[in-house]
Amino acid sequence: MTESSEPRAAGVPLHPDEAPVSKRPPVRRIGRTLVAVAAVIMLSGLLFGYDQGVISGALSGIEKDFHVSTFLLEVITSWVTLGAMAGALVAGWMADRFGRRLTIVAAAVLFILGAMIEALAPGAYVLVAGRLLVGFGVGVASVAAPLYASELAPAHLRGRMVSLYQLAITMGIFVAYFADYLLINGNQWRVMLGISAIPAVLLAIAIVPLPDSPRWYVKMGRHADALAALKRVEPTEDFDADLKAIEDLNAKEQVGSWIEVFARRWRRPLIIGVALAALQQFTGINAIIYYADKIFAAAGFASPSSQSLATLLAIGLVNVVATFGAVAWVDRFGRRPLLLIGTVGMGVSLVVVGIMFEFLDAQTTTSTGTSVYGIVTLVALVVFIASFAFSLGPVVWTIINEIYPSHIRGKGVALATAVNWFSAWLVSQFFLSLVGAITEAGTFWLFAGFCAVTYVFVLRFVPETKGKSLEEVQRLWGGDDAVPEGVAPR
Ligand code: BGC
Repeated sequence: MTESSEPRAAGVPLHPDEAPVSKRPPVRRIGRTLVAVAAVIMLSGLLFGYDQGVISGALSGIEKDFHVSTFLLEVITSWVTLGAMAGALVAGWMADRFGRRLTIVAAAVLFILGAMIEALAPGAYVLVAGRLLVGFGVGVASVAAPLYASELAPAHLRGRMVSLYQLAITMGIFVAYFADYLLINGNQWRVMLGISAIPAVLLAIAIVPLPDSPRWYVKMGRHADALAALKRVEPTEDFDADLKAIEDLNAKEQVGSWIEVFARRWRRPLIIGVALAALQQFTGINAIIYYADKIFAAAGFASPSSQSLATLLAIGLVNVVATFGAVAWVDRFGRRPLLLIGTVGMGVSLVVVGIMFEFLDAQTTTSTGTSVYGIVTLVALVVFIASFAFSLGPVVWTIINEIYPSHIRGKGVALATAVNWFSAWLVSQFFLSLVGAITEAGTFWLFAGFCAVTYVFVLRFVPETKGKSLEEVQRLWGGDDAVPEGVAPR
């Protein structure tokens, strides 16, 4: 198949031979298309973060209305993560089979359906079905959106595009904390859950007029569409060379099977992606995101309003602000320095939080209000969140989306993302039991230990990918897929 009914940019020839290719790309349209791609990635991230963060505020109302057991409440909370894991696995196949763009449309439809089921649920089991569906949509989007953006964006913007995704996740968490804070007294859990349909509708509206990624078109043999897509996003004067680079690479590849994903040749990127995905979660980020109120309560913030304000500002806001740093720096300083500095900051602050909890445990019988230990804990948690937000948060997603060769990228990204969701589920499911077994201090020190493991892993195994084209990154793994001379990096 060489032609399609995809929307085409006005004035773009159907085929390279059909009309002379203008040397100057239409700057306004390039700008607009990239802005729309950025909107797609931001809306996907917003939904991811919102659905992740909103449940903490909705739980008490659900409990009151449905009189559910603790177990069912845990299911209502955590099955979004399990749904997301399943969605992430299927998304790789969908992204290769139907394209990145249609896969994102499907995710938006799932979100909308899921959010409506949640908002209108007559009972707990229907609510669980809605949560699973929303989770599935989150999982599909968490694979397809960064994949789409990393394949469409030029090399010098790729890291920044994927960081935008992380920025949007943090904004989604912040908005969810805020919605919880505003709606908690009116017991409006149906509104809290239902309003995530709005960004999902916007996502569908944003993606429909956009092209799919040039790489996917080439893979499908739709070369004219690939050229049109390149012209809409690429500020280069040499579309033909770019297209040829993608085609040359594609000629050597078919869409890879799962066996190929696990082939010895790609073991290094496979291990790097999967290990970073798991380590990102084992450093405890979501234990802190989900249980921030409880942690602040244990640190001496006595009233629920002081806890939720501390969560909103110290966790929610700091997370958003520090992620801006990553968006600015990831393509300037590179992935490795950010990861290394960030894991040191995270590890040190977790050690401090652990020490403070040792003191707090000793003083709980004598004091009820916020103490100096509580304040130091707050500051250390701010340092932890800030360090995560400019390093492991965004950079892990950037790396996962750029290390796999294109024929297995869909499946590789899906696998790493599913591992990330599964690890998130493990940590959030067992955090409270872990605290019961080895105390808060022990738990935070365990997370700090994983920061140390991450530091060593990055130092030894993760190569710098800043500024490299996806084809050049592929050559890092010793493949024979050389990029033809003189091709501008994408
Ligand atoms: C992680 C999420 C986490 C978020 C916090 C993301 O990179 O994958 O699990 O909740 O960062 O900002």
